[in-house]
Amino acid sequence: MCGIIGYIGNKSATPILVQGLRRLEYRGYDSAGVALLQDGAITRIRSIGKIDNLAEKLKGEKFSATSGIAHTRWATHGGVTEENAHPHAALGGKLVLVHNGIMENYREIKEELQKEGIECVSQTDTEVLAHLIGKYYAGNLRSAVQKALERVHGTYGIVAMHLDEPDRLVAARMGSPIVVGGQEDEYYIASDATPILPYTKKVIFLADGEIADVSRHGIEICTLTDKPVEKKVEELDWDENQAQLQGFPHFMLKEIFDQPQVFQDAIGGRYDLGDGTARLGGLNMNEEQMRSINRVIFIACGTASYAGMVGKYAFERLAGISAEVDVASEFRYRDPIIDEKTLVFVISQSGETADTLAALREAKRKGAFVRGIVNVVGSTIAREAEGGTYIHAGPELAVASTKAYTNMVAVMMLYALQFGRSRRVSHATGTRLLEAMREIPEKMKQILAQADTIKAMAEKYKEYEDMLFLGRGINYPVALEGSLKLKEISYIHSEAYPGGEMKHGAIALLSPNFPVLAIMTKNSLYDKMRSNIEEVKARGAKIILIATEGDERAKDLSDDVIFVPSTMELLEPLVNTVALQLFAYHVAVLLGKDVDRPRNLAKSVTVE
Ligand code: AGP
Repeated sequence: MCGIIGYIGNKSATPILVQGLRRLEYRGYDSAGVALLQDGAITRIRSIGKIDNLAEKLKGEKFSATSGIAHTRWATHGGVTEENAHPHAALGGKLVLVHNGIMENYREIKEELQKEGIECVSQTDTEVLAHLIGKYYAGNLRSAVQKALERVHGTYGIVAMHLDEPDRLVAARMGSPIVVGGQEDEYYIASDATPILPYTKKVIFLADGEIADVSRHGIEICTLTDKPVEKKVEELDWDENQAQLQGFPHFMLKEIFDQPQVFQDAIGGRYDLGDGTARLGGLNMNEEQMRSINRVIFIACGTASYAGMVGKYAFERLAGISAEVDVASEFRYRDPIIDEKTLVFVISQSGETADTLAALREAKRKGAFVRGIVNVVGSTIAREAEGGTYIHAGPELAVASTKAYTNMVAVMMLYALQFGRSRRVSHATGTRLLEAMREIPEKMKQILAQADTIKAMAEKYKEYEDMLFLGRGINYPVALEGSLKLKEISYIHSEAYPGGEMKHGAIALLSPNFPVLAIMTKNSLYDKMRSNIEEVKARGAKIILIATEGDERAKDLSDDVIFVPSTMELLEPLVNTVALQLFAYHVAVLLGKDVDRPRNLAKSVTVE
């Protein structure tokens, strides 16, 4: 869960590498470093903490290097020390390496190297890999990397550089993402496309077991066994500006406000109002195969799994197909009953989450149809799924996922409609749903316009140490998502419960110090939810309600209300969640938390 970047060209490498690390900082940020090849030597500068600290160290130094590698770390092996920060060196500093991933057999290799008199100065697995490459180095960095990697068990995305081959960087990938791009005489290597975007939109995504041999003259792709590989150059439709803050104080707030636009990008050109149906070409299934499906499983982690829960409701209600949600880290180790009539959707913003990727491979092994619902173009999950749909949310840089959730729900709604129309959904219902979906961006804007009101509410509740989120039916996953957002950026303990389940346990928690945020919008479960709120009120807990505009009774029942515009029940998560995202965001900001880089989290969890 680190970020790595390499540059080789004719420009000064230092600013390109540091700016690139800033764009990758969401992947991990406990230490960072660069290695620059200049004046016949490799200079390594490393620091603890965020990229700012490294930039501070580099300030005032005049570096002439036009090639180098850099890294921002998310510690897995060895504590947060400068010694454990990357790049790591071997061969007396002539060979340097940055690595994202985990080398599982590093202890055995370390002992073997020690027997040969090679000692490590850090506690990391990566330094062991650097020395292993060094052991095989005989003047050709590519073959030394190939020989070393044949012995590695585990995951890696690496970039290596050797002093004696100044016109060469060698990158390799197994499990952790590597993107290469560039033109004419300058080339970039990175963990994802965002640091490369300012320079080129043409990129190549390495697959597992591939190596990129990069020089100022171009990129050669081959396998670990040196077989040349023809690769497709992807054209990214993201503009650099999308990866900038655009005047917002944090990426999270910018991405919350991106939702009305990116929602349109998610559904645009993917439905036919005339036919009252959806047309998602990526499904890659013919009518007969679609009809054969009798079970749908949504597999994901974190926020993506809560989006999957909304997908479950949509498939049951629209398509009448039995649907379930599985957390990927559980699915991959239990014995799921799957057959050729099972359709598995793997959902992921980054497309690199290790548990979700492993679950994808498990579902394929068991013969299911496997389709991806993914944001990052060309990511591993997108490439390994046998079809699927990109959610077009654009770069999501804040660790706490917001717009990706909304667009995941949008795409699942369209899939459910596409299946539903070939089964039991009438033209009229299909058209009504699509018209309601087209109104969603406006309804989102109405909630975003209440940002200051929600901020004032956050001010009132920010000091509480606990909070309970309640929702029923399609709003239960909304409560789960709202609670996760609050937890992950404000560190306030919060739980989410189905409204009807509260009285079987969580109600014992209630007190004036344990506020409850409940979604009580006007839908088929309104009355049921209202009685649950009565039960909460009777225990003296403070109540914040998400209620439908015009519902005057909500005021009597609660201490504070966020009114949201009404929409079709199935689509409520697309509206109600925006209010909860804003609430969590403002509570965290008012508590002075680093909302874009919350502690202990990373944007893309590429290890188990
Ligand atoms: C959500 O805010 C978190 N960042 C996390 O739960 C995330 O949803 C989870 O790690 C899944 O990530 P993915 O969508 O990239 O697979």
